[in-house]
Amino acid sequence: MVSPFDVLGLDDDADDDDVERAYRERVKEAHPDTGGTIEEFQLVRRAYRLLSEPGRDEDATVGDGDASDVDLTADADADGAGQIRVEFLDYEAIVDRGWRLDDDDLFAKASDADLPASDHGRLLVDPDESLLEAAENRGYSWPFSCRGGACANCAVYLVEGELSQPANHILSEDHAARGFRLSCNGYPVSDELKVVFNVKHVPELDELRLPPGPFRRARSQ
Ligand code: FES
Repeated sequence: MVSPFDVLGLDDDADDDDVERAYRERVKEAHPDTGGTIEEFQLVRRAYRLLSEPGRDEDATVGDGDASDVDLTADADADGAGQIRVEFLDYEAIVDRGWRLDDDDLFAKASDADLPASDHGRLLVDPDESLLEAAENRGYSWPFSCRGGACANCAVYLVEGELSQPANHILSEDHAARGFRLSCNGYPVSDELKVVFNVKHVPELDELRLPPGPFRRARSQ
């Protein structure tokens, strides 16, 4: 069995800030897109979850030293382990109602507005899913084109949380600093996210769009 502190390369007396910093570093290294494996990625996620719990058990372990021995079955995730909660909002709903993208109360307004489930809702992202894949796998039709980091069609705006961005050939550092990410290869590296999707319609991203890829038809939502 291995200690979650060892998984994140931390001393046993690490505080919450140390855990957060170590997790952000380790989860990027462990991601399959940057040379890691899904097993390693999930191991890091589980270690972080154990150490982030209020009143954490200092003696908890995340499994054997061999990541393949970690329980990755559906049962292991039944309590949400390894999954990231995402609250999403469609940019077009923001435009239709005259709201602003940088409004601090944006999601509170969305909650009060009784929007359709496809415009505002919540979904879970599995460890091996990008944000776009998770939306599609839950029956939502979010925009995309190249799925390779070369257009702004799949762009989202981060209101809370963080997405890793292993492939980005289109968004500038300024875009990234202001919260824009690509959902097609964006993998959550925080436990929760609030995102605005469909931001390809933001005027400054308009010229970075490609002709749309084929939308998948939404299943029941
Ligand atoms: S669909 Fe083109 S970068 Fe995501």
